[in-house]
Parts: sequence; structure tokens; C-alpha cells
Amino acid sequence: MSQVSARVLLRAAGVAVLIDAPDGLLPALLHWGGPLPGLTEADAAAIAESSRPVQSPNDVDTPARVSLLPEATTGWTGRPGLQGSRNGVAWSTDFRVTEITFNGTPLRGFLSAGPGVLRFTAEDAEAQLTLDLEVALSDGGVLTARAGVRNDGTDDYTVDSLTLAFPVPAEASELLDLAGRWARERMPQRRPFTVGTHLRENRKGRTGSDSAYVMHAGTPGFGFADGEVYGVHTAFSGNHLHFAERVFTGIRLLGGGELLLPGELRLAPGETYTGPLVYGVHGTGLDAVARRFHGVLRARKRRLSTRRPVTYNVWEAVYMDHSLPKLLRLAELAAGVGVERFVLDDGWFGARRHEHAGLGDWVVSDDAWPDGLSPLIDRVNELGMEFGLWFEPEMVNPDSDVAREHPDWILSARTSWPVESRFQQVLNLSIPEAYAHVRDQMMALLDAYPIAYIKWDHNRDLVDAGDQTRGGRPAVHEQTLAYYRLLDELREAHPELEIESCSSGGARVDLEVLQRTDRVWVSDCIDPLERQVMNRWTAQLIPLEYMGSHIASRHSHTTGRRHDIGFRAATAVFGHLGIEWDLTEATEEELAQLTDWVAFYKEHRDLLLGGDLVRMDGPDPHQFVHGVVAPDQSRAVIGLAVTASLDALPGPRVRFRGLDAERRYSVRPVRLGAPQGGLKEPVWFGAGVELTGAALERVGFTPPIINPEQAMLFLVDAVD
Ligand code: GLA
Repeated sequence: MSQVSARVLLRAAGVAVLIDAPDGLLPALLHWGGPLPGLTEADAAAIAESSRPVQSPNDVDTPARVSLLPEATTGWTGRPGLQGSRNGVAWSTDFRVTEITFNGTPLRGFLSAGPGVLRFTAEDAEAQLTLDLEVALSDGGVLTARAGVRNDGTDDYTVDSLTLAFPVPAEASELLDLAGRWARERMPQRRPFTVGTHLRENRKGRTGSDSAYVMHAGTPGFGFADGEVYGVHTAFSGNHLHFAERVFTGIRLLGGGELLLPGELRLAPGETYTGPLVYGVHGTGLDAVARRFHGVLRARKRRLSTRRPVTYNVWEAVYMDHSLPKLLRLAELAAGVGVERFVLDDGWFGARRHEHAGLGDWVVSDDAWPDGLSPLIDRVNELGMEFGLWFEPEMVNPDSDVAREHPDWILSARTSWPVESRFQQVLNLSIPEAYAHVRDQMMALLDAYPIAYIKWDHNRDLVDAGDQTRGGRPAVHEQTLAYYRLLDELREAHPELEIESCSSGGARVDLEVLQRTDRVWVSDCIDPLERQVMNRWTAQLIPLEYMGSHIASRHSHTTGRRHDIGFRAATAVFGHLGIEWDLTEATEEELAQLTDWVAFYKEHRDLLLGGDLVRMDGPDPHQFVHGVVAPDQSRAVIGLAVTASLDALPGPRVRFRGLDAERRYSVRPVRLGAPQGGLKEPVWFGAGVELTGAALERVGFTPPIINPEQAMLFLVDAVD
């Protein structure tokens, strides 16, 4: 077995990664962060030399080596990258790299290159395993890593855990990750990066409304603009984990991988397990980190246009009470205010007149829709709108034809079914017949009707998710892959089809599902006060054009709060705009305002959905300032929201960054969104004002006095 060496500097978009893999050892990151201009081979060697750890007292004689996949054999007593065994033996690995390629070409020695893909093949003859480790830097400076392990032995090898970890420097002493719950997804939480592991395990079988989302470490107090920040995201929609680990020697790692259940991943001889992509992003401030993440989806093969169709979803207007005359009226009203896509939600199929029955029977209900969906769809199309339809493909109510006929298709670890959640169970898509059942029923509908869009829901966690046909073995891994396959298959058959990833609101938002879907439903809570926070943090990973953002009813269905249309709309326009409101209850005046807002959105959506997101760290936590800047810095839209009483009135001056410091811009309030209560305008409002980019950032402007729970927008246009 020949052992190879390489040292590689990858550079892209202001990020440098120096990877060291000497003498057959697994690759370790000597540097991941800001650029290292002019670095030569000798300079890289000097970094390697000067980075060699000193042996600490009472530690192993040769200091432990922490590669992307740390191994206990090196003396590392932190979390090992690969955990597994052959029935209790071969549980400690000592991989030796036998082959290295860069963009497919064999590599030895030193390489300094731009973006590209490094691949390391490593073997452990004693444990009889082969490791395939891929490390890449994208054009946008996003680091990714993915590992696969093959069983070369003659008996089974069980993978318990395969995680990858990126080192961060000691300056990154504060952690920030996300948490949340249904209707309050992606709430930030901070803590010091202390010794031990901050472990965010997800065992929900879906990404989760409380997912860690991005595990950040940064310099103390890092904010949207400032601080050196590192962020790691595990891109997987099943069980997964994120961790931040600091050990006694001071080493700090951010890592992630799939979370495997006991015995879930048993590799027969010759079989391979490949884990999810782990993304790593570095930048100054959270906005820079977010922008790099946004680049991942913006570079996706199937690019989204910024002309995202304004959507109307009927859920909060009718729930499961489907009556054609009412839906036709809603379609007409929606078209009247400028909607471009009309979505029929839950309740159109099987016995689904309520939450207790029908899920899993994807056949149009004769009761609710005696003439099929055509009377609605034809009218929707006639009104110039696309039609979208809700599905929850993985789910069944026990009271459904499919569950009655195939009780063994339900995921269950034990002889009794798992505890119900929303009166439903989960269909085991790894059973080929169950998969085919769902696929064929969905395909039949896609073939029968002009469906442009699917709202793909997933309304419960996977609990005790075992495969009954295999003695109850854990089946979340297979379920997740089957879900991805199903998405791929449907899209291959219907290339124009758009799919929304919804999961009790925003419980399936990650970079892997968004390789296959075109937007997420951020949350079932459309209360703009809550959405100011949720949208702000959802945008930490995904760009605004992927975030379903609706103008809600006057009174919020999930919080009971009441808000006027200005606050609802000025909040919603920073996303893929929709409306979720029983428009038959809206007044003429409200419909007119809605029409104006939709028109404003259409006029500016190229900017709103194609620009760079800016979030300000204001001095008053209840004054939210954010916005979008055109990539050429010629224009911007700024949003100002007041979420609770400010300490002082009129509140801190509005400062905004991201524009060209030397150019002069006109700043004008958008009158249309003028808050309806308590507005007191500053003098400059009348004629607008011209400010340089530097003045906007460093001096700012006096805001109007607006009541709490109000918002308004400003348009910024270069005048020179
Ligand atoms: C979930 C979704 C909602 C709606 C309902 C339908 O809660 O998040 O938007 O589609 O299911 O049952």
C-alpha cells in the first residue's frame, strides 16, 4: 500500500484553506479563513512546521493529530470521526491515504489552486475499511466535506456515526446556533464556547423546527456586520447532528453528520455508506456568512428566477372546508389583486374532510369535488394564474384506505404503532410497493391536471421509525433517501414543476432538500411581528427568494394579534411573496391596498429577490432595520420595523450599509406602506434626501415616529 502526501492551498472569494496530508495521514486543515496572499510552497511548509503542537505534560508523547475525520489512534480523546465496529471489534481506525486527486487528476506534493474538489482515498487494512473523503471549495468560498466508508471485510461492519469537523481558532470563543418550535422556528441562542461539546442532535426524521440550522463560532459579540465568524451546516433532512467541541488542549471544532440509530447502518461486505455534505463558511459578520450560504442555492443548476410568482394559498381562508363557489370567488379576488399562483391546500382528497382521515389516499374526493379539480383549475388558469396543490406524501391517517390495506407499510419499531401525532403515522417509503403507491398516485394527478406547483408537507416527527418488514430495524436513513428519490423522480417526469418544502411550517429547511425544492414555508405563523425575527434568521442560510412569505389576515391565526396591512405587507415583501387571507372578508379599501402592495412587489422583486441581504445590528433591539442591495450597488430597499416600544423616540437614526461609500443616493419613504397609526414624519420625508453611501452607513437618517408593530420601507437609488 503506497502512502501519498500533499499540501494544498485552495483560494476563492476571499477565503483560503490550507490542507495538509503528509505521509499518508488524513487531511487536516492548517488554515480555514481569510486569504493568505502570495503564499508559496515554502510558506505553506513554514505554516505546517510552525503549527506543530507541543507535547503537553501528561498527554500522549506525539501530540494527537486532528484531521477532518479525527481518529482515536492518534491519541485524540475527543469525538472520533468514524464510530463503528464489526460486532464489537475493528472499532478504532487508522486510515492511510493511498490516493489524492484534485478535480479528478492525481495529486502529489504542493498545489496552490482556486476552487476545486480534492478527493482522498484512504485504507485501513486491519479494520478492512476504505474511506473516501471529498473536500471542496466553491467559487463563492464555501468549504464542503463529505465522507464515505466502504466495508472491505468479509463480515458486516456497523457504522454508528460518521461526522466531519472543521477546526476554528481560539478567537472564535462564542457560539450561536438556532432553536425554536412550531410557529416560532429558528430562534437564535448564544453561549460561550467552553470545554465540552455543545451537541445538537436531531432525532425527528425531518430537519426540525428546532434545528441547529447553522452552528456558528465567532469572536465575542459577533454581529451581522462584525466579528470573525465560522458557520457549519449539515445538509440532511433526516436525523442529523451539529456540534461544537472544545477539548482540554484548546482545540475547537465545528462539525456535523447524519445521526444514525442503533444498527441502522450495517454495511454488508463491499457496501458503502456516504454521509451528507457538511458546509463550512467563513466571513466577517453574519451577513457575510449568510451571503456565502446564499451563493450555494444561487449557483444551483436549476436557478430560480427573481420573478417568483405572487402566490395565494387558501389554507387560512377555508381550511378543509372546500366549497367550489367560495374557492372560485377567492380565485377571482386573488387574480384581482395581482396574484399569479393559486394553491389549493389540504382537504381535496380521499376522506380528508378533517384531520382524522384520508391522508395517504391521493385521489380527488368525489364528495368534496364531484366534478374533479378541473372546474377550479380551469378558472384559475383562465384568470391568468398557475395552479398549485398540497400533498403530504409520506403521511397516512390510520383511517385511510392505504393504511387499512397495508398496515405493514407504516414505519414502526415495535409490534404496536408509534404514538400518533396529528392523528397520523408515516408511510415507509423504503418499501418499494409503498414508494410506488405514492409516486403513482402523485404522477396520475400531475398527468391529469396542469399542476405547476406542489406544496409538499410533512406534519409529524418520525418516532420509533422502524421497518416492520425487517423486524423493526431503524429506517430513518432509508426513508430520507427515498424521499429525495421521490422528489427527483417527480421532477424528472415534470421538469417545470416547482415544489415547496413545508413541514408543519418550517421544519424541513436545509441545503439538501433545497437542491430539489424551490422554496420553503418558513413558518405556519404569519404574524408579522414573529416573522420579523423568523425571516431574519431563516435568511442566515437561504436567500430571500426561497422563503415563502405571505401577507396574513388582519388577525393572526396562530397568535391572535391584529396588525394593519402596512406592517403585514412591509414584512412579507422580503421573501417570495404570497397572500394567506380570506379575501372574501377583506374590505374594498384593504383589497385596494393589497393590490398596491402586490404591484410594488412586482415592480421591485428583481431587487428584493436578487440582491444582497443586509441586516443591521441596531442599538435598540426593537428597531429592526434590514434591506436588500442590488449587486451593482445602484439601488436598495430598506425596511424599518418597530417591534415594541422604543427606549427613546423617534428611535435611533437609521443607518444602512452595503452601498458604494462615494456614490450619492436618493432616499425616499415608500408612502404606500405608511403605517396607519401614530406616524409622525421627519422634515426630510417631503422631498426625500440625498446621502452618500458613507453617510448612510455612518451618519444615517432620522426615522419617523411610528407606533410599535408597524413598519415602513425606503427606496434608495443612486443619483450619480
Ligand atoms: C401544515 C402546513 C400548513 C397547512 C396544513 C394543512 O400545518 O404548514 O400550511 O398546509 O399543514 O394541513
